[in-house]
Amino acid sequence: MSESGQRRYSLGAIVLHWVLALALAFQLSLGMGLDDLGRSGFAQFQLHKSIGIAILVLSLLRLIWRLAHKRPDALEGGFNGFLAKAVHAGLYLFMIGAPLTGWLLVSTETVKVPTLLFGTVPWPHLPAPHSVNGFAHLSHAVLGWLGMALILLHVAGAVRHQWLLRDNLMARMAPARGLWLLLALLLPVGWALGVMEIKKAGPPQTEAETPVAAVAEPIAPAAPAPAPAGEPSNAAVAAPETHAAPPAWTVKPGGTLAFSVTNGADKVRGRFGKWSGDIVFDPDRPEGARIAIQVDLGSASVGDPTQDAMLASADFLDAATHPRATYRSTSIRMVAPNRYAAKGMLSLRGKSRPQDVVFTLSGTGLSRHVEGSAVINRAGFEIGTGEAAAALAPTVQLTFSFDATGRRADSVEK
Ligand code: HEM
Ligand code: HEM
Repeated sequence: MSESGQRRYSLGAIVLHWVLALALAFQLSLGMGLDDLGRSGFAQFQLHKSIGIAILVLSLLRLIWRLAHKRPDALEGGFNGFLAKAVHAGLYLFMIGAPLTGWLLVSTETVKVPTLLFGTVPWPHLPAPHSVNGFAHLSHAVLGWLGMALILLHVAGAVRHQWLLRDNLMARMAPARGLWLLLALLLPVGWALGVMEIKKAGPPQTEAETPVAAVAEPIAPAAPAPAPAGEPSNAAVAAPETHAAPPAWTVKPGGTLAFSVTNGADKVRGRFGKWSGDIVFDPDRPEGARIAIQVDLGSASVGDPTQDAMLASADFLDAATHPRATYRSTSIRMVAPNRYAAKGMLSLRGKSRPQDVVFTLSGTGLSRHVEGSAVINRAGFEIGTGEAAAALAPTVQLTFSFDATGRRADSVEK
């Protein structure tokens, strides 16, 4: 059969055209919704990556197929014919460029979230530096918008042929007459499936719920620190008889608990949005002090939902199994005026290890500002043992800063 006599595209081209139309419509609506998702969107991010890589493979296959198989002759020449060809070329650029820039974007994040295609096939990261991450983000978004504009032009072209010129162009992209209308519906179906997938992730996180924007939200206090034998269990009155009881302190909202860790040539910085403290402490007699801090591990955030989901995952903080970390001081001493060194136990991911913390106080009386730090050894808690943490330094720097108001034991209600 001569090329001009061919009435429709080869079956392989037709199948790939419509499978890709469905997948791309789904991918575009899912991608647009990703931005609003918080940590709850981890599964949707993984799905977006899986479908995206599948699109890359199918698009390359389609390009090879196109070069290897005859196509029906163009129906139009001139400007309209040129426009149709340009849009087709642009669509190929979009179909291949969008997944490549998406892949580049996830490969150059500071915390690299591993990609497991459809939950089973491990997919590598591209060996590219973090400096190209901004470019990858921008070009991924621009290609998304370009793709949508081209699809609209493409559909407008198809409508023009079908209903204005009445040359039955659509039959060229359908395996049988009449089927084209059904196939064209795959575009809105794909889009609707993407919207449904985003809805599955639950309501988008509001600004106030986004951990990075939140500040030292109190969480329900954990069980009180076990009192040493012989002491009354009410911390507020637990003081040596010879002195007035040390004051109990309330952490005021607005404090920060931040972490940073070196990752290759970068530094990953983040915060815990939810944490609280039970503090009984006399700045002049720190020996009798007891400090217990509870940290909601699921509130850890580096400011990016995908990376946050990974931080909370079993590879790192394992927030699902052990939602909280607790620190309990065992002894505190003054090392310089207003400067203290605490020894204690840190419980994290089901493991308890000795942990030193240093802090300084400013202010006077029962209104103080606290600043401090600690260096945490990741290995002791088995944080980050997988491939994603290969470039992470062994220690994590923790810093905190908050205001606290004290109450003397005699003014504390029982
Ligand atoms: C994401 C959506 C879509 C993409 C990426 C896409 C892409 C393409 C590409 C690249 C071609 C050129 C074929 C080739 O030479 O390889 C093509 C042809 C065609 N497409 Fe689409 N398409 C999409 C959706 C649609 C829809 C919704 C319709 C119908 C309403 C449609 C109708 C057609 C027709 C009729 C042709 C043949 C054009 C001709 O023979 O000149 N496409 N499409
Ligand atoms: C044809 C394939 C793809 C299409 C059409 C597509 C489309 C989109 C769109 C429209 C967005 C929203 C962009 C914005 O407005 O910020 C997006 C976001 C995203 N895409 Fe894709 N994508 C594709 C493939 C991929 C692949 C293969 C990956 C990774 C392996 C990926 C990773 C991401 C990520 C991580 C985001 C969120 C970016 C952010 O933080 O805003 N995408 N995608």
